[in-house]
Amino acid sequence: MKANNKAKLSIASLAIAGLVSISAGFLEATPVYAKGPAQQAVFATSAVSVADQYGADAAQQIFKEGGNAVDAAVAIAFTLAVTYPEAGNIGGGGFMTLYVNGKPYFIDYRERAPLAATRTMYLDDKGEVIKGKSLVGYYAVGVPGTVAGMWEAQHRFGRLKWKQVLAPAIKYARDGFVADELLVQRRDSAAKEFEGKTNFDTYFGSMKVGETFKQPDLAAVLTRISNNGAKEFYNGKTADLIAASMRGHGLITKRDLHDYRAVWRQPVEAKWNGYEIITAPPPSSGGVGLVQLLKMKADLKQDFNGVDLNSAQYIHLLAEIEKRVFADRAQYLGDPDFYKVPVAQLTDDAYLAKRAAEVNPNAPSDTKSVVAGLGTSMPEKAETTHFSVVDKWGNAVSNTYTLNGYFGSGVIAQGTGILLNDEMDDFAAKPGVPNMFGVVGSDANSIEPNKRPLSSMTPTILTKDGKVSLVTGTPGGSRIFTTIFQVITNVYDFNMPLKDAVAAMRFHHQLLPPNTIFWEPYAPIDGELAKQVEAKGYVLKAQNFNGDVQAIKINGDTPVPISDPRGRGVARVFQ
Ligand code: DON
Repeated sequence: MKANNKAKLSIASLAIAGLVSISAGFLEATPVYAKGPAQQAVFATSAVSVADQYGADAAQQIFKEGGNAVDAAVAIAFTLAVTYPEAGNIGGGGFMTLYVNGKPYFIDYRERAPLAATRTMYLDDKGEVIKGKSLVGYYAVGVPGTVAGMWEAQHRFGRLKWKQVLAPAIKYARDGFVADELLVQRRDSAAKEFEGKTNFDTYFGSMKVGETFKQPDLAAVLTRISNNGAKEFYNGKTADLIAASMRGHGLITKRDLHDYRAVWRQPVEAKWNGYEIITAPPPSSGGVGLVQLLKMKADLKQDFNGVDLNSAQYIHLLAEIEKRVFADRAQYLGDPDFYKVPVAQLTDDAYLAKRAAEVNPNAPSDTKSVVAGLGTSMPEKAETTHFSVVDKWGNAVSNTYTLNGYFGSGVIAQGTGILLNDEMDDFAAKPGVPNMFGVVGSDANSIEPNKRPLSSMTPTILTKDGKVSLVTGTPGGSRIFTTIFQVITNVYDFNMPLKDAVAAMRFHHQLLPPNTIFWEPYAPIDGELAKQVEAKGYVLKAQNFNGDVQAIKINGDTPVPISDPRGRGVARVFQ
């Protein structure tokens, strides 16, 4: 109760300060964009890059009907909830960075901890973390935010009717879509993890490669959301069904759903290399991390001079920077409605120049010596999805949303077809104990009722002279912002075409485990490059492909969308 009041108070004071605005409720949102002046085309085409073909088809339909980037984004989000169930969702949450009519916006629709959540809910009698409790099953679920976020964005900036943007998703749920091989592989491995623990198999067990898969319960939910708006999910029959399936198993109640609000926040903005970076603020750590990485790399220009992309020395220098970013992340980053995150200090030029000067160009700094940098003394599970959209009127949407792990908690709210997230794992269940992604956290990210778990999702837009230059984002948990960082530097520091910048091998270091570089299968882990990196004092850890970047670069006035070759994404332009 106390924490609840504190949250309300701090949101209210931020709202007064103009830093956030709280949605008035699900009925009152007023469209402003559609009533604005007639739009003039500034780009040659509209474009998307998105995790599957159905998302691209949905966008195509929306643009044909006269929709803008926000309409297309919302239609994609609902469509992927049907056709990309491993990460697309209405039972999860995420972040949307927008650039509309020349202005930046950000909507936070991250999940919140249920009111009955407690700081120690994932610990046993001895105070040890209970393995899997925050990852699989009802207890792992945070109060979902996606429907509220999409409602807010579409009502504020969309041109089309709400029903129009729901239509493609309803069609795919009702009439089915053809399941592809990668999806079924992912289903198989998730099914093993959930076996005997959740009702996952009842809903997804029958999905087969190359066959049409229908989701009638989900079609009914989406139809009700289409008819009744977001309040259907939070106050209507759907809310009743979610609360009913939680009863006796998990913590989410009707009150939790009724109280949920998406929040408009001030994005993190920074000047870098002649560009304006618009990216995710807390409760994401990603925007702060991205700005820190980019600015420190620029500060170390001398050290990077003549160093080849992805050479052993390059990997070392990046790891040195990343060490410092992850030390700050573990200490200072959390939900800003509960914990005062020093965003301005963490992204301040002088602070970062000082941090960059601590980088040892010759050898890895001792891990223990790298502590949070502001004078006082956190990984995540692995599936999320990003999409980028621009319209020919110059607007852009960069959206990353997630269930956390593939297929979230594995729980489907009975009678709804809605897969529920396992986002509670993004909290620090116990200070210093790593989560699924191997990152640790502190009080800033402890569990409290209504609090949002710390995220790494980093939907980002770069503009120059008021015009969009790049829209980008990726899944990957704690690897998200190190991935975005590498794509941005590949494009702007190495002048690589976006396609090559996205395809290039990526590396990741996150302070812990000590001096460990996560290594994609692109270069042999016993090859020459690997040996050179090991010789510098690093341990290499093989991992699967890192991320699934969906990005759009504007060349002149021509949007060039690129989908990461690592996934089954689709890039498309529309006249
Ligand atoms: O919010 C976060 O940072 C994580 N829950 C994201 C998970 C993720 O990216 C998994 N994808 N590979």
